[in-house]
Amino acid sequence: MADAAPVLVSLNHKGGTGKTHVAYLVASVAHARGQRCLLVDLDQQANLTSSFLPGHTSPTGVERLFDPSQEPSAEGLVHATPYDGIDLIPATPLLAPLDLSDQSAWQAHDLHLSLRGVFGELRSRYDYVVLDCPPRLSLTSYAALCAGSHLLVPLEAADWGARGTQAVVATQRLVTRRHNPELQLLGYVVSRFKRTRSYQQEYLAALRGAFGRDAFWTVIPDLAEFEKAVTDRRLVSTSYPDSDAAHTANTFLAELDSRVERLARQRQNRRPEVVPERRAAAV
Ligand SMILES: Nc1ncnc2c1ncn2[C@@H]1O[C@H](COP(=O)(O)OP(=O)(O)O)[C@@H](O)[C@H]1O
Ligand SMILES: [Mg+2]
Repeated sequence: MADAAPVLVSLNHKGGTGKTHVAYLVASVAHARGQRCLLVDLDQQANLTSSFLPGHTSPTGVERLFDPSQEPSAEGLVHATPYDGIDLIPATPLLAPLDLSDQSAWQAHDLHLSLRGVFGELRSRYDYVVLDCPPRLSLTSYAALCAGSHLLVPLEAADWGARGTQAVVATQRLVTRRHNPELQLLGYVVSRFKRTRSYQQEYLAALRGAFGRDAFWTVIPDLAEFEKAVTDRRLVSTSYPDSDAAHTANTFLAELDSRVERLARQRQNRRPEVVPERRAAAV
């Protein structure tokens, strides 16, 4: 188990880019490896909650963490899922009023800092924490950036130049400067890639040219196997271990791990050198 799990924020400005799917892939491979993963559903659509806790009816969920009258405690909101090692803090319909886009409505009360420090204790018990965001830079997404360690931007190859994607990364930089110096961009993940369409290859090349090393080299293809696994509520890595989908998921998480390590090393190297204390002169 890691000392402190990375807190991955899966965010883009657009729906259907694979944000929730990326969270599902991390959980799927972690489960197959015998690791532990905490999923946090911050989207009022609750897709992650319905995949991992079907029929969930608990009256409380992640919205409790935004209530200024409560001492935030994530621990009491964690539910075990049917998959070993995978836990989830669910989204409930009560999250909807918090999906605010008007910054002035929440900044006055510092609601965007609601998740800061909340996962501190939990991080030591998991290998990964994944915050699945709505397709907007709303309060819940902003709060996720203020609490996370790494931003992951799932996107379709054709969308590499989209303004929404640029806005997400600009917001990440702002949050890193103002609220959360731990937050770093982990990378752009091309998702739902249609391998057989030649124009998609052109988009991919343009994206790599624009984003360079910030683009994951693992590309997540659009596969019927992924769709079927999600519909059947199965985890690709254990239910179909020899499939293309499982292979992609494993490669993706291996790359994610090495990116997290590389960023940690870079950060370590940037720290000012510790100058050893001078030995007291012998008398
Ligand atoms: N690589 C993929 N191959 C096939 N289907 C996918 C893939 N990624 C996502 N999907 C499906 O596409 C839909 C939208 O993906 P999702 O991750 O929910 O998007 P988002 O969270 O960004 O709105 C879901 O039904 C999901 O199961
Ligand atoms: Mg989603």
